[in-house]
Amino acid sequence: MKPSLEDREKLVHEATLARTRAYAPYSRYQVGAAILTEDGQIFSGGNVENAVYPLGLCAERVAIASAVSAGAHRVVALAVVTANGGTPCGACRQVLREFADTDTPVLIGTPDGDYHELRLEELLPESFSVTDLKEVQ
Ligand code: THU
Repeated sequence: MKPSLEDREKLVHEATLARTRAYAPYSRYQVGAAILTEDGQIFSGGNVENAVYPLGLCAERVAIASAVSAGAHRVVALAVVTANGGTPCGACRQVLREFADTDTPVLIGTPDGDYHELRLEELLPESFSVTDLKEVQ
């Protein structure tokens, strides 16, 4: 399923809303993420920090865990919104790769609704995935 322009804009909007619920009292860098799954559902999440700093969770992984927990395993688009258009961290790129194809659109936006789009492959070239494991089994 290829997301329409309307799907994309809704996803950026949901990520923007999720960002307002981020819990980031330490870094003060709020992140919102939203994913569209193959069956048309949207799951979102914000970063969730902790007084024990390394325990903090990134917004993208919160949104992905929410989808997977609901039984939705294929991601057809992900949006991430930050104050300055920051891109997903390396760990989140790899976690997204588990549930998305290399050409899955990643929308990177700011709270005013502006966004640009990259394919996952552009963020994570020559990625390692389950297909690599299958080649040796
Ligand atoms: N953060 C995310 O939520 N997603 C990313 O891809 C980059 C970083 C969060 C982690 C931490 O709570 C804050 O942003 C500052 O690094």
